[in-house]
Amino acid sequence: MNRKVTVVGGAGNVGATVARAIAEKELADVVVIDIADQKAAGIALDIYETCPIIGSDSRVIGGADWSAAAGSDIVVITSGKPRKPGMSRDDLVRDNFDIMKSIAPKLVEHCPNAIVVPVANPLDAMSQALFRLTGFPRERIIGMAGVLDSARMSTFIAMELKVSVENVHSFVLGGHGDTMVPLPRYSTVAGIPITELLSKEAIDAISVRTANGGAEITKLVGTSAWYAPGQAAAEMCEAILKDKKKILPCSVFLQGEYGIQDLFVGVPVKLGARGVEEIIQITLTADEDAALKKSAAAVKELVDVIGV
Ligand code: 2OP
Repeated sequence: MNRKVTVVGGAGNVGATVARAIAEKELADVVVIDIADQKAAGIALDIYETCPIIGSDSRVIGGADWSAAAGSDIVVITSGKPRKPGMSRDDLVRDNFDIMKSIAPKLVEHCPNAIVVPVANPLDAMSQALFRLTGFPRERIIGMAGVLDSARMSTFIAMELKVSVENVHSFVLGGHGDTMVPLPRYSTVAGIPITELLSKEAIDAISVRTANGGAEITKLVGTSAWYAPGQAAAEMCEAILKDKKKILPCSVFLQGEYGIQDLFVGVPVKLGARGVEEIIQITLTADEDAALKKSAAAVKELVDVIGV
């Protein structure tokens, strides 16, 4: 195995889920980095010990020492405070910005050529923070949010229509917050837009539940979700490591695309070995465009709070 993925904050729930998913699929060797060094070592070893059972030759190591991350193809950043019930993702902006400020110099020193997948919330603002702090090109900072939000939407569509999730393809754009923009016209079941299959009321309910998907789990569990967020980040890593040219909704730095300037916002992108290989621009109705702009404005407010 000569590919390497480092998961920073890997002793946390989301990070451990990413590490496990990558090892399970034998996508790369995995380095679990966390300031909780013993816990990182233990979680890495526990995951490593699953590999003989599942038949994976991924090697998994962990600790606090960033030198193990050197030469990583991808660094997934899951460090950050999680949400408590009643908190919005935006409530975390200052605390998690401080954490990004401590991580960025290490990224630059040890992994100057890596593709970075931020997962910490508020996602779009933290992606923008890492983009500014590292100076990496925009192709190499790719925030995880749309894959998760789309997975949630697909789950709810499959539940409503009682069909296989494999038939469902959902599209969610915008910031990873309450203003995210589920796009029913582009969400399909076996190629059929859900607007042909569900009432407006049912679609509206699915869209609202999708936008509140993170809060729903936080309320039930008492902290942020981890299985679906971790799996979503691993899917992005797989697309990059295998150079799949897979089109996934990700938070990327827009420079005029969709009429949005200098801001990380979720849009469909083509992911391959070089990171973001293309930003796909789709036609939006006036209402969809207004919703995307509103979502971008919400991201801009947060970005302004931390001055990135
Ligand atoms: C979520 O939506 C953690 O933001 C993440 O669950």
